[in-house]
Amino acid sequence: NRKLRVAVMGAGGVGSMFLQRAMEWSDLIEIDRVLVRDPSKRRDHPLAGKFTSDARNFARADVDVFVDIGTGVSPSAELLEQFLKLGVGVTSANKQAVASVQGKLKDAAKSSGALLTYSASVGGGAPIIEALTRAVKSHKIKSIAGVVNGTSNFVIDQVEAGKTFDAAMDEARRLGFAEPDSTADLDGTDVGAKLKLLREIAFPGVTPVHVEVGAITDESLVIPKGKGLRYVARAIMTEKGLEVSMKLEELEADHYLVGAKGEQNRAIIELDNGEFWYVTGKGAGAWPTSESLLADTLEIGRHVK
Ligand code: NDP
Ligand code: HSE
Repeated sequence: NRKLRVAVMGAGGVGSMFLQRAMEWSDLIEIDRVLVRDPSKRRDHPLAGKFTSDARNFARADVDVFVDIGTGVSPSAELLEQFLKLGVGVTSANKQAVASVQGKLKDAAKSSGALLTYSASVGGGAPIIEALTRAVKSHKIKSIAGVVNGTSNFVIDQVEAGKTFDAAMDEARRLGFAEPDSTADLDGTDVGAKLKLLREIAFPGVTPVHVEVGAITDESLVIPKGKGLRYVARAIMTEKGLEVSMKLEELEADHYLVGAKGEQNRAIIELDNGEFWYVTGKGAGAWPTSESLLADTLEIGRHVK
């Protein structure tokens, strides 16, 4: 069995952990090249010499897997599509990029037969995309509800425990949970992209009839006595159509979503037969995200001829 040849974009908080874990699996994985903005910062890295900033010549069919751990839409989105068109399987943690071109990526994967995966984009290490993908094979989905942003959930719990909002956000940044621009964790940007990815699996091609987006501010974090406060993403198929919301909600203290502690993520998937599927796991942070990317990388490897 030959090693999987892997091209990676990103060697930041999550990317450097992924590279470290891939090197620990060097009997299975060979990192061929790594795209970053500034290769000169990596002269002492064990993979020095493999770093490049040349995005234009990065997508080539000489690898088995492209792992996207970059930020922002471009060039991640273009690279994901280019690699898929070349027949190279991809996995991405970059929800903004995948959400912006999900249809194009699906088409490219379909025509080349390459695997398109992005489990790390939603839920970090919580297998929310896997559960939903399994659910839609045999059921119609009635609703999805989830805590899918680890940073804001961590901050809510820390504020409840007595920390100030700013100190809790600083801690979330220090622990590597927050987005490079952490306002995305508080204003619905991060959750909106994640919910879009989930919607496209659960309700493909359906445009919502109603979307409500709330933000988290210091003032909004008033934790009701005897209740739980959570920033909840919901997509519900109603008689009127698909209703979508992402906002702070007061829930019963024993609600499943209130049980998501700190950076944990949780989701509830409601099926048309009345069943509810519950998913939980570590939602943010370099380690769970890297493990999820590794799992997808090896899954793609199982399909490589
Ligand atoms: P960082 O900002 O720490 O790292 C981003 C990496 O991408 C850097 O290595 C950067 O290069 C590279 N990069 C960014 N833009 C470009 C570009 N235009 N050309 C080439 N390289 C580029 O981000 P994180 O590691 O925290 O997050 C990475 C991705 O993972 C994001 O999309 C995030 O949303 C997602 N994610 C993060 C999770 C977390 O817990 N933090 C969990 C799940 C997903 P350079 O270092 O040279 O600047
Ligand atoms: N900033 C994101 C979060 C990372 O806190 O959930 C995981 O997607």
